[in-house]
Amino acid sequence: MALVTTTEMFKKAYAGGYAVGAFNVNNMEIVQGITEAAAELHSPVILQASAGARKYANSVYLKKLVEAAVELHPEIPIALHLDHGADFEVCKECIDSGFTSVMIDGSSKPFDENVDVSKRVADYAHEHGVVVEAELGTLAGVEDDVNVSAEKAQYTDPDQVVEFVERTGVDSLAIAIGTSHGAYKFKPGTQPHIRLDILEEIVKKLPGFPIVLHGSSSVPPKYVKIINEFGGGLADAVGIPEKQLREAAKSAVCKINIDSDLRLGMTAGIREHLTEHPSHFDPRQYIGDGRNYVKEIVHDKIINVLGSENKA
Ligand code: G3H
Ligand code: 13P
Ligand code: ZN
Repeated sequence: MALVTTTEMFKKAYAGGYAVGAFNVNNMEIVQGITEAAAELHSPVILQASAGARKYANSVYLKKLVEAAVELHPEIPIALHLDHGADFEVCKECIDSGFTSVMIDGSSKPFDENVDVSKRVADYAHEHGVVVEAELGTLAGVEDDVNVSAEKAQYTDPDQVVEFVERTGVDSLAIAIGTSHGAYKFKPGTQPHIRLDILEEIVKKLPGFPIVLHGSSSVPPKYVKIINEFGGGLADAVGIPEKQLREAAKSAVCKINIDSDLRLGMTAGIREHLTEHPSHFDPRQYIGDGRNYVKEIVHDKIINVLGSENKA
């Protein structure tokens, strides 16, 4: 199977009451860990590259790594997605270079400007057989080195979604319902929760339309503990409860974005390995252990959060 768009994936996910995992990729071992888990569980998967990833690894390397995964795992559908495209130009660059899906993130702009840029990207993408995700509402947290404070974050207004989707022609919509980027999503001691009631209102206004959740890492205590046991210092990291994400996935949420959890897994594996084997200096040994945890995490997400096993 060649790289696919998310159109079929989302149709099946919506009808089947599950979501497809969109995992951020930055290097070969992350691509391998994700796709090996997805292939073992016969799950569709979206591999996504942020601006930071493209700067770190170079878009050409990322594209070729993803193509290698497609060649090695022909039994599962894989989409290559641009995460948080900042403007028309970066989206165009990715569309022209073979990405099958792009996100135009105009969420920090006033409504009409967000509509204009999202429509421009959607028009260009559709002429080239590529699908588009846009965002309405603002998530808190850190993305591309920009930190949006909890006070500045804004839930998506359900009264704006129909006009936004109709005017832009985008294929899916990322919404803000209390998820946030990074590993510090909630204050320790508070009850972490997302606004499934807002999601429900949005679904009523946009029946059948695929919804996307960013900032959906759960920050599994297992990996935070390993990091801290082996010399790290991650205090008070709290994520989204897996059960709440599973509820969202049963409804209109067809794509769930996860990056921070993979970073935790990679870091835990490397820290653990290097502490337990102080004489090792072969990167294949310690990065290999990081890759094992990335794979273990994706395995867990597919079964306990996404519900996408055996849906390839
Ligand atoms: O949404 C943000 C993703 O976690 C990507 O993060 O911009 O540091 O690559 P990044
Ligand atoms: P997390 O930081 O919760 O993993 O979110 C990632 C994300 O939304 C990528 O776009
Ligand atoms: Zn995001």
